[in-house]
Amino acid sequence: MGEKIIPLADHRYAAAVPAVPSRLTAPTGLLADRLGRPLHDLRISVTDRCNFRCSYCMPKEVFDKNYAFLPHASLLSFEEITRLARLFVAHGVEKLRLTGGEPLLRKNLETLIGMLSALRTPDGRALDLTLTTNGSLLARKAAALKAAGLQRVTVSLDALDDTIFRRMNDVDFPVAEVLEGIDEARRVGLGPIKVNMVVKRGTNDHEIVPMARFFREQFDGQVVLRFIEYMDVGATNGWRMDEVLPSAEVVQRLQAAFPLEPLEPNAVGETAQRWRYADGAGEVGVISSVTQAFCRDCNRARLSTEGKLFLCLFAERGHDLRALLRGGWDDAQIATAMADIWQGRGDRYSELRGQQAAESGSGQRRVEMHYIGG
Ligand code: GTP
Ligand code: 5AD
Ligand code: SF4
Ligand code: SF4
Repeated sequence: MGEKIIPLADHRYAAAVPAVPSRLTAPTGLLADRLGRPLHDLRISVTDRCNFRCSYCMPKEVFDKNYAFLPHASLLSFEEITRLARLFVAHGVEKLRLTGGEPLLRKNLETLIGMLSALRTPDGRALDLTLTTNGSLLARKAAALKAAGLQRVTVSLDALDDTIFRRMNDVDFPVAEVLEGIDEARRVGLGPIKVNMVVKRGTNDHEIVPMARFFREQFDGQVVLRFIEYMDVGATNGWRMDEVLPSAEVVQRLQAAFPLEPLEPNAVGETAQRWRYADGAGEVGVISSVTQAFCRDCNRARLSTEGKLFLCLFAERGHDLRALLRGGWDDAQIATAMADIWQGRGDRYSELRGQQAAESGSGQRRVEMHYIGG
């Protein structure tokens, strides 16, 4: 037998139990971290499983039938997720994104969506409630998701060409079914729909212009396509800089086919730089986490399937909120611990990447994307 890659899965368990300060502070909705960044966006992973095996996220050699996914008892229950989400909202979170793995694999997800959609900001506004999916189950589930209170979806789609798509998801899943999912999501009103394409040079970069053309022409320009630089998340995907196609090059290739004009950001801390087709056929975006880090305004926190709070996509350890939930702490105590954690945050991995890459071995124990969600 050849040498087997040892899955670095155990690192998912790396987490400290947060201290609960004895002096409690009420949430103000205005937390700031050490770099002055507010807490605005909470990404909740509801399962670490996925029915795809994209090589940049869950390579088959590692995530095979022997891989130990989380046992059911480890997962946060819907009540636990909702309780934490409510406390995060009191601290200023206005956007909730459900992710995975593939979130639509979590049983009865609609029930959770119903519970989360009832939450309100301190001044009574509904939250921006969205979900990232690979689209494989979307045609079947879109109507129920909408009825439960989901507002919109973001679909991951790396190619239109069926052969390339099947190769990239590595489970031979046909692209037509994902396109049906997008169509159904649009039909039931889960918009604005975004489509995220991770670009890997030499694998799917020749799909950039065809993808842009397709989404300009189909769906009445209602779907916003975004090109994502392939990132060095996790430790299993064998990332190499020469497989990253810088967004500047993506924009150049798009410009050559369809003239573009820059758009202003919608919100502070946004991941994507937005562009508009000069002929009015809608917008596209690029997410340049490798070549143009956007940590300065990063207002995103991530909650893992088993209740660990990660302050950065590239963090090596989380903060075990489940231990507080199951340890009998009350809301005020948990909210104070959360505030403490966010106020201590100084993470800005992507900005430091350049320097760190040169350092020996740093970042080898990072959390995996299928565990923490995009
Ligand atoms: P919208 O509100 O729909 O615009 O969502 P978003 O762009 O904030 O989130 P989405 O999950 O669609 O992000 C798209 C991709 O950007 C993810 O799949 C990641 O590849 C990348 N990304 C998102 N957030 C971060 C982040 O905080 N840091 C880094 N480095 N990359 C991120
Ligand atoms: N680089 C960039 N984005 C990634 N995603 C997963 N792995 C990577 C990576 N290595 C993102 C993709 C996918 C979402 C679930 O996570 O956008 O659509
Ligand atoms: Fe699954 Fe998304 Fe990861 Fe692909 S990128 S393996 S669809 S979680
Ligand atoms: Fe935020 Fe970390 Fe991403 Fe920077 S690398 S934008 S700090 S999640």
